[in-house]
Amino acid sequence: MKETEAKLCRLAEDMLKRSYAPYSHFHVGAALMTKSGRIYTGCNIENAAFGPSVCAERTAIFKAVSEGERDFALIAIAGGRDGVMGEACPPCGVCRQVMAEFCSPDLVILCPSAGGEVKRFTLGELLPESFGEGNL
Ligand code: THU
Repeated sequence: MKETEAKLCRLAEDMLKRSYAPYSHFHVGAALMTKSGRIYTGCNIENAAFGPSVCAERTAIFKAVSEGERDFALIAIAGGRDGVMGEACPPCGVCRQVMAEFCSPDLVILCPSAGGEVKRFTLGELLPESFGEGNL
């Protein structure tokens, strides 16, 4: 694995400690890299009303978009109970749809796990036949 990819996986795991997950106790961290090499991190942030909760990936993407970034190359996502990375944590369907709004199907999605294995997908693999502005 390339050094940049390893760095993003480490940053995603590091973000587990920022997660606010008092309800599910499932912590998620994300690290998103723009095509220009800037990195935006995120964590899941839960809410007592459940519905307003947001995933780590969307936190990172919305941080980046709100700073004027829209060209993304790579995202790493780590997750695990009580802040300890466990199995690979693939993005939920809502986050896949948000990724599709801003990223091309060749966006690389890295899902590291405690054993050291890193699952690697493209957005096109995880969200084929996606709905987008062309469908409107
Ligand atoms: N979660 C994420 O942050 N990203 C995902 O892609 C999957 C789920 C969060 C949402 C919730 O806070 C917790 O994990 C349990 O579902």
